[in-house]
Amino acid sequence: MKKLTSTASGLNGIIKIPGDKSISHRSVMFGSMAKGKTTVENFLPGEDCLSTINCFTKLGVKIEQENSNVTVYGKGLEGLSESSEVLDVGNSGTTARLMMGILSGLPFHSVLIGDESIAKRPMKRVTGPLRDMGARIQGNQDGNFTPISIQGGGLRGLDYVSPVASAQVKSAILLAGLQGEGVTSVKEPYKSRDHTERMLQAFGVEVKEEENGTVSVAGGQELVSDLHIVVPGDISSAAFFLVAAAIVPNSRVTLQRVGLNPTRTGILEVLKQMGAELSYSTIIEDGPEPYADITVTTSNLKGVEIGGEIIPRLIDEVPIIALMATQAEGTTIIKDAEELKVKETNRIDTVVNELKKVGADIEATEDGMIIKGKTKLHGGALDSYGDHRIGMMGAVASLIAVGETVLHNDKAINVSYPSFFEHMESLRRG
Ligand code: S3P
Repeated sequence: MKKLTSTASGLNGIIKIPGDKSISHRSVMFGSMAKGKTTVENFLPGEDCLSTINCFTKLGVKIEQENSNVTVYGKGLEGLSESSEVLDVGNSGTTARLMMGILSGLPFHSVLIGDESIAKRPMKRVTGPLRDMGARIQGNQDGNFTPISIQGGGLRGLDYVSPVASAQVKSAILLAGLQGEGVTSVKEPYKSRDHTERMLQAFGVEVKEEENGTVSVAGGQELVSDLHIVVPGDISSAAFFLVAAAIVPNSRVTLQRVGLNPTRTGILEVLKQMGAELSYSTIIEDGPEPYADITVTTSNLKGVEIGGEIIPRLIDEVPIIALMATQAEGTTIIKDAEELKVKETNRIDTVVNELKKVGADIEATEDGMIIKGKTKLHGGALDSYGDHRIGMMGAVASLIAVGETVLHNDKAINVSYPSFFEHMESLRRG
């Protein structure tokens, strides 16, 4: 439990945003599948990514990790071997779903488990198409929930039209497809984050993308590595301080090395539309993933409508966007975001409940929420419910709330941003 108070002097200073969670996971996964050594710089040492390292260690891969430096000694797919222990993904949906794709191609038996939150997250979206490719998968409620057991091998290619825009679904199928006969393709209703496609190409895999967004890989391609991967800062972590600087009076904050992959930058477009004052410097575009420093100052904000293709490009930022909308003049409508219901918590419910507790004018809808601003927030007893992003939303709310805020289950934040409170303190000190 953490006691938090507002700040009168604002947030000021420079912070280096920790590594991107999605890219960190993939660096260990693909490094483990590849032949050769992969070194990773600015890896995110958050609990989710450590779960990924732990799983691949159990599959026989030598991985060295010291804070944000990681070395993976890959021996190719043949170098992965059956684990005598269950593979525990902790709180990480990305670890669970991408591993299901990888394990489906491997000719041995694996069992995946996770924490209480993982046990409630739907896996059929992945186990369904993987079964269609030939994987033998069992699990609770016909393979929809963990524990999931997989007997891999003997896969055939699949042309899959996904009902959801999900990088986890797309990646799991492509990673299985790499190990199957023939070509595997995935088409989504909107483009989801493309870190898998970008990184597989860096490992020498040919990935095709058609005009209509269909992505495909041919089976039997090897990943080859002598790679040094520089992980950019996680824009989803940066989002909390981008918004904090925009809504806390007297603030000016620079966030260094923030990833700018266009499939993730929906939050920047929304900040701009709402009237936030942003500027970019030191833009680096020579690797697979672009990044830059971003400076934000306290801004006068106005409400916006958010829906459609931008939703997958900002899905993890909805909690903090909702908080920002409480400080914007007018109404903000977030729609087409049903996917929020199957995140670490049902984020339509948890965002609305927690922000209501501190005085927000917010209501849930079937596919999102409606927020009316601008409202003065007050302190209250908030809970992360074990969801890192709900915890960070609450902590940022406390910076502008009148009176004390208590945040229960604040430790959940370690899943993606272990240095979050340290960074918040350093910006408060200015
Ligand atoms: C992720 C994809 C997204 C995102 C999650 C990370 C990834 O999930 O919400 O935090 O690394 O592929 P979905 O694929 O379920 O949309």
